[in-house]
Amino acid sequence: MSAILIDGKSVAARMTAEIASDAAAFQHATGVVPHLVAVLVGDDPASAVYVRNKQKACERAGLKSTLHRLPAETTEVELLMVVEQLNADSGVHGILVQLPLPKHIREQVILDAVVASKDVDCFHPQNVGLLVQGRPRFLPCTPAGCQRLLAEYKIETAGAHAVVLGRSEIVGKPMAMLLIQRGAVADATVTICHSRTRELAAIVRQADIVIAAIGKPRFVTADMVKPGAVVLDVGINREGDKLVGDVDFEPVSQVARAITPVPGGVGPMTIATLLRNTLTAAQLSAG
Ligand code: GUN
Repeated sequence: MSAILIDGKSVAARMTAEIASDAAAFQHATGVVPHLVAVLVGDDPASAVYVRNKQKACERAGLKSTLHRLPAETTEVELLMVVEQLNADSGVHGILVQLPLPKHIREQVILDAVVASKDVDCFHPQNVGLLVQGRPRFLPCTPAGCQRLLAEYKIETAGAHAVVLGRSEIVGKPMAMLLIQRGAVADATVTICHSRTRELAAIVRQADIVIAAIGKPRFVTADMVKPGAVVLDVGINREGDKLVGDVDFEPVSQVARAITPVPGGVGPMTIATLLRNTLTAAQLSAG
């Protein structure tokens, strides 16, 4: 079997066009241009690329974006002060603190400081709580991007066994939460596997839908995938100057029914969801 390629790049482009149209209508009605501020601390080259991609996407959707670049030596207190200023600025609708932060800064302290109404990453405990209760304010960017791909490719999720590899706050946990909700592109039976899971390969082999988010290059091999399963690869790993996912793409695509490439799969969907959240934040602030 040769899998259908799930083209996140083109779905994200369509989503961005929808957001551009909604943002234009919002601006027409209120005079407000939704504004995302990204905060980048230090000089991690990969983070710089991600932030630049987010800014370019804002431009395409007609959203305003501003980058706060801070040196690697910035202290936790200094960064907290920047976040507080952005919280208080009514001209800022979304705040994104790019992760990872330098080691001397506690990520949790900084992320908790971002006011919930501007938390377009959906990391704040209040936003996570709303998501768990099935009444989200913002959508978790990568998981909601994956869910939209399942919708676009008409993948049946109701009653399906979805196996999520990875239990991170940013992908694994919220991904599982979205898929167990009642409703469209949900109603799945979800198993979360992680570094301490026993018989992991055997569990993955039972999956109708595999979502790989463990940060280990080519971890999911063809023998771990049930023929006809759908495979979403959230991983972005560097092998020399090549990007590879958490899935061993070539062999797995011989077994799977549909699969996302890396790059061009889940990544662009994460950014498109971030844009949607930024527009939502501006709409909420406008009442
Ligand atoms: N670093 C890698 N992915 C993300 C993301 O989705 N949001 C933030 N803030 N940082 C990241």
